[in-house]
Amino acid sequence: MTEPRAYPVDPAVDADTAGFWEELYQRRDRVWSGRANAVLAEVVEPLPPGAALDLGCGEGGDAIWLAGRGWRVTAVDVSTTALDRLTAEATRAGVASRITVARHDLTRTFPAGRYDLVSAQFLQSPLELPREAVLRAAARAVAPGGRLLVVEHGAPPPWARESHPHARFASPEEILAALDLAPDGWHTERLGAAHRTGTGPDGETGTLVDHVVLARRR
Ligand SMILES: C[S@@+](CC[C@H](N)C(=O)[O-])C[C@H]1O[C@@H](n2cnc3c(N)ncnc32)[C@H](O)[C@@H]1O
Repeated sequence: MTEPRAYPVDPAVDADTAGFWEELYQRRDRVWSGRANAVLAEVVEPLPPGAALDLGCGEGGDAIWLAGRGWRVTAVDVSTTALDRLTAEATRAGVASRITVARHDLTRTFPAGRYDLVSAQFLQSPLELPREAVLRAAARAVAPGGRLLVVEHGAPPPWARESHPHARFASPEEILAALDLAPDGWHTERLGAAHRTGTGPDGETGTLVDHVVLARRR
């Protein structure tokens, strides 16, 4: 196994968080499929391009897809390995000029600016992650008329062993409540579950449940 990279002490990044995700990314040349997440693609398809913020962007499947459709994307993750892979892939795809890559531990710092789309796709962690604070910062980053899309795993995958790292899965209503959106300032466009077919570590396929919140700032 590759040794985890040693990082200089960075007060803006929790060492355990950075170390956990670095180790995960360094274990394999590629962790995620590289394709855009299905719900994101479905939601964005009819929208005109604008400015997007991708929180916990990983290796950049969504950011690169968005940039390919003309969006200007700020792609944020705590893992430099993931961000390096995103940059390399964006360059290969010819869309690097539309992507700004930024390393943040979102529990400590948050990117500046207002965005037409703020997306948090599976920003879940077996480590301590103060979801409410991060989700509320995400909501604050949405420009008037813009959208916030949160998609989370809604259940363990069918191939998971008994002790899944996410002890509990928030319902769509709980995710919405955690966002604490002012009712007169937001319109909830979508709230519920989505299903997709996924492939497990041993090549087995199964149905995965995602929980989706899509809200538009008035
Ligand atoms: C489950 S992955 C999802 C990646 C991507 N959004 C996707 O759908 O393929 C979660 C991502 O969130 C990042 N992450 C976890 N905790 C974070 C934190 N505190 N700050 C920033 N990124 C974090 C991880 O490095 C990882 O890339």
